[in-house]
Amino acid sequence: MAAASSLASSISFFLLMVIGSAAGNFNQDFDVTWGDGRGKILNNGNLLTLSLDRASGSGFQSKREYLFGKIDMQLKLVAGNSAGTVTAYYLSSKGSTWDEIDFEFLGNLSGDPYILHTNVFSQGKGNREQQFYLWFDPTADFHTYSILWNPQRIIFSVDGTPIREFKNMENRGVPFPTRQPMRIYSSLWNADDWATRGGLVKTDWSKAPFMASYRNFRSEASSATAPWMSQQLDFANQQRLAWVRKNYMIYDYCRDSRRFPQGFPPECNVA
Ligand SMILES: *[C@@H]1O[C@H](CO)[C@@H](O)[C@H](O)[C@H]1NC(C)=O
Repeated sequence: MAAASSLASSISFFLLMVIGSAAGNFNQDFDVTWGDGRGKILNNGNLLTLSLDRASGSGFQSKREYLFGKIDMQLKLVAGNSAGTVTAYYLSSKGSTWDEIDFEFLGNLSGDPYILHTNVFSQGKGNREQQFYLWFDPTADFHTYSILWNPQRIIFSVDGTPIREFKNMENRGVPFPTRQPMRIYSSLWNADDWATRGGLVKTDWSKAPFMASYRNFRSEASSATAPWMSQQLDFANQQRLAWVRKNYMIYDYCRDSRRFPQGFPPECNVA
């Protein structure tokens, strides 16, 4: 008994070491870039928090750039009455013809659902919004938000479930990010002019400071041999994506015909 339990505890210690060493460290991998002390790296680099009050929000960015990447981050969003707050978490390159891959979390009144807003910019052009509700409360605990960006596709996932795929359709004249390296950025800011119920619900500053937390960052930069560089959605993951779209998608630019009276953008016309 004693031997078995000490074996079990040394195995779990070993697993802890392996998991611990695989995770990134915020001190090594990121810089808090604005917010005058409202962004903090804590617990020896294992936790990062951003805060927002009436005077300012805050933000951080990765030290390194990625040209293709497989990037996971765990976020725990502003709890309680988060109406009017936006937590943006995205990849972006620089310049006037930039590329960008966005997650944005739009806060809400206590008990009302966050909206997860996504977008893809290529060569400075976005207007490719898709929005979702989540199948859990994103403020109660940490959840993993992932971007897989390889030369053929961008896959957005939540806790390993794909929610969006943007395919490389350069052959149909749709620019795809393939040449401009991107950094990871995140910020917590106030956008009560549009974020919650289209701007109807304003931020309740008596609840400030608002706080979002980050942990367990993992990233893989491109390498010709990494399997994810040619990864695609297998049948099971296509089914899961369909489940998300059916049950949780609340907006898709590719279905908004009022917005595109001249016809949908070419990437919409592919199954
Ligand atoms: C907030 O809650 C309202 C009411 O349930 C809902 O219509 C809206 O989509 C929610 N999210 C945001 C960000 O407005």
